[in-house]
Amino acid sequence: MRFDIITLFPAIFDGYLSQGLLEKAIQRELIDIHRHDLRDWAPPSVHRPVDDKPFGGGPGMLIQVEPTVNCIEKVETMDPRPMRKLLLTPQGRQFDQRMAEEFAESERIGLICGRYEGFDQRVIDILEPEEVSIGDFILNGGETAAMVIVDAVVRLLPGVLGDSQSNIDDSFSRGNRLLEFPQYTRPREFRGHKVPEILLGGNHAAIEKWRDEQSRQRTIQRRSDLLPEEPSSSN
Ligand code: ADE
Repeated sequence: MRFDIITLFPAIFDGYLSQGLLEKAIQRELIDIHRHDLRDWAPPSVHRPVDDKPFGGGPGMLIQVEPTVNCIEKVETMDPRPMRKLLLTPQGRQFDQRMAEEFAESERIGLICGRYEGFDQRVIDILEPEEVSIGDFILNGGETAAMVIVDAVVRLLPGVLGDSQSNIDDSFSRGNRLLEFPQYTRPREFRGHKVPEILLGGNHAAIEKWRDEQSRQRTIQRRSDLLPEEPSSSN
């Protein structure tokens, strides 16, 4: 799967892409990630500005339409696979595990990262990207949001995780739309806190039942919005 990240700060991704699962997925050619510096598309001048003041007044600066559209149209031609264009903005559809699963089906994703007060509206009108938010808070730019999306999508790709079961058991995931059950490893006891007896007995059916129940209880306590709706009684 190919990712194209369009950003004014490509170096933000250096550490993230050179560690752990991401580094391995790149080395094993399961994914390739290309970063494109929007500033390369600015009209030639000393500082190469890509931002300007909003018409009508108001605080902050906007990223201009011309370098952005030119950059993204060029990036689209760099690979024959069609690029699903996502623009990161707090005004977008809220990202969740179902969207991650859907994006993981794509061959190619473009992540368009805003800065300042965002993009000139014509970027959206012309390119028609899907606008995606990672939550109801304001980040300094779309880069961290893009990393969140890459991270959530990459771990769903075949071959990326060691144990193919682990992204099915995860909270919110396809095999389990509830929160994950608690897990324990050695030692069996620490400061008087014991591992639940049932996990030590090797009765797999009983363990599975206990985990399902823990998962349900946790979800009721913490995130009842995730519970499937009770069928409404017909009267
Ligand atoms: N850019 C700034 N805030 C954001 C958010 N919450 N989600 C996605 N992109 C953003």
